[in-house]
Amino acid sequence: MNNTIAIYNFKGGVGKTTSAFNLACGWSRKYKVLVIDCDPQCNLSNALILNCKSKNNVYAYLKEFVHNSIPTILPIKVNGRLDLIPGHYNMIELESNSQFIEFGSVILQRLLERVKMNYDIVLIDCPSYFGKTVKAVLSSSDNLLIPATPDVFSLKGAVKLLRYIREMEKTKPINVLGIFLNRYRRNFLYHRKMVQVAKRIFGSFLITKTVRNAVQINETSDRRFVRNSGDPQSNIASDFLALCDLVVEKLNSREVKRIPLSSIEKLRPHGGSWSGASVVR
Ligand SMILES: Nc1ncnc2c1ncn2[C@@H]1O[C@H](COP(=O)(O)OP(=O)(O)OP(=O)(O)O)[C@@H](O)[C@H]1O
Ligand SMILES: [Mg+2]
Repeated sequence: MNNTIAIYNFKGGVGKTTSAFNLACGWSRKYKVLVIDCDPQCNLSNALILNCKSKNNVYAYLKEFVHNSIPTILPIKVNGRLDLIPGHYNMIELESNSQFIEFGSVILQRLLERVKMNYDIVLIDCPSYFGKTVKAVLSSSDNLLIPATPDVFSLKGAVKLLRYIREMEKTKPINVLGIFLNRYRRNFLYHRKMVQVAKRIFGSFLITKTVRNAVQINETSDRRFVRNSGDPQSNIASDFLALCDLVVEKLNSREVKRIPLSSIEKLRPHGGSWSGASVVR
């Protein structure tokens, strides 16, 4: 069952958590979804459940696996079809835990193996720093979804990540579902140019649906957004709902897209530099 999805980009602030939140809420209309919050900031946990504090958090579970005991995993119910394993600020401690440094991916794999059969989709939100936690998530997850904003640094973050994945694939393959552009403003010439650049760089890895930059997204950290996310009247909701369908299509497609070497070599705009200014001209 290849239903676990890590959401990550080397660049921070691109909308990993916002996307995880909206995709999970969108999917939960049709599918049974589990969200695992691996970011010590716990923004996703708090967006899904107000002041989310639980002893049944991801850090507590991973710590038990680290000590070779097998915890009973009890995800928290957010709504009928959406469950959460909340984050914890102590997740940062795992970065210097010698057992986790060595066996992080096996440990996370054990956690995932114990829950994934109960869900259609398991979505894992990552911190932005590229530490042991992210490495463990990437090497234990079946799929990867990469959000990016339409700017040079964020696209570079996605390129860097694909290069890392290509190296990692020698030992543990991961299916790259695609890269999508978040915070897109159609009336910005620069953003339109960046879409063209992204198409050239990522080819079929670029998901054609963009997610608009929205005003109401500022409520992400607010519980109210849970309701907004299901409202098809809201632009942002309809963008994410369309993205939900596209990602599920990719998840269900039998074709397992590996990153071919040649496509990585092409990870540069044709004859152009990465400089935003030269791209816009
Ligand atoms: N489509 C959007 N429209 C408007 N604002 C957005 C959109 N997506 C994300 N944001 C805003 O951008 C900021 C960063 O988003 P978010 O926290 O989801 O990014 P992140 O990649 O998870 O960040 P971090 O690297 O800190 O984990 C937040 O203030 C969020 O509300
Ligand atoms: Mg985040």
